[in-house]
Amino acid sequence: MDTRLLPPTNEGLHIAGGILRDGGLVGFPTETVYGLGGNALDSSAASRIFAAKGRPADNPLIAHVPDVDHLDGLASPTPLALRLAEEFWPGPLTIVLDAHPHVPRTTTAGLSTVAVRVPDHPVAIALLEQAEVPIAAPSANRSGRPSPTTAHHVMTDLGGSIEAVIDGGQCVIGVESTVVDARGDEPVVLREGAVTREDLGVGHGQVGGDLSASPGTRHTHYRPTSRVVIAPEGKGAEVAMKASAFESVGLVSRGPVPEGVSSLGRFDRPGELAALLYGAMRDAEAAGLAVLVFEAVPEVGVGRAVMDRLRRAAG
Ligand code: TXA
Ligand code: MG
Repeated sequence: MDTRLLPPTNEGLHIAGGILRDGGLVGFPTETVYGLGGNALDSSAASRIFAAKGRPADNPLIAHVPDVDHLDGLASPTPLALRLAEEFWPGPLTIVLDAHPHVPRTTTAGLSTVAVRVPDHPVAIALLEQAEVPIAAPSANRSGRPSPTTAHHVMTDLGGSIEAVIDGGQCVIGVESTVVDARGDEPVVLREGAVTREDLGVGHGQVGGDLSASPGTRHTHYRPTSRVVIAPEGKGAEVAMKASAFESVGLVSRGPVPEGVSSLGRFDRPGELAALLYGAMRDAEAAGLAVLVFEAVPEVGVGRAVMDRLRRAAG
């Protein structure tokens, strides 16, 4: 199949909305990463998402809606969920709730819960309004690959197997949403993201108590073909230089880049590293580099999500 690259114009959004209503799949931008959208209430559209990504069937999808009033038919928000939605939506927070019985088990991967989110991106919101149905959207990468932060990344992984991609430029945040279980009185963090534990006012312990509550965290993720190495803070150049004696090396760091090492991005703050993380992995891969060194950041705020993704990529 020919995958259409659509502009984020009224016409492009109109075409994409029609594709989604007809059970097709559309890649679209959000503030975190690009999503691979399909009708969350249509079991065969959800099945096609799993097939296109090569995603394990036990990893549930996030349903996206344009605002909190569009949860009807998906889930009834708890008081905690309403409070979180009020504070963080639209934004990079995914909320897990008990699912309404008619949400397809394909979407929820057989769980009795459903994950919901209102993205903070004008193109995503316009698309959700056009589609008129909740849109299930995992990150628009092939399963196990780095998440996509440009339309080009989506085309690289899924071109030929989905109907369209809307090109909305580069994603601002660059790491996936924070996932919280909001069925109880306190949010339980299942996946770290740009809404931080500090923002949520919850403890700094391990991610979620019960791994089975957060199936995605069991799977290998975000792995490019270049080997990812994490250098201690301030030691990026040193680690990269040593490795470059034997292999081709790329570096993402705060400091200077030594001769013989390819620079794949510079950052000052952890949030800047988040924004260039996945793109650097894909660039290293495209350049055929054997090794990609990332300089570590402190595990506070969004730094926790960044280090989580780096560790998974480093394996
Ligand atoms: O930022 C994001 O969340 C992006 C954009 C496109 O919105 N989407 C995304 O989806 O990252 P995905 O499929 O790559 O990650 C969804 C995560 C997985 O870890 C999955 O296990 C978890 O959410 N999840 C989904 N439904 C769940 C549920 N009912 N209970 C617990 N975890 C759930
Ligand atoms: Mg993903």
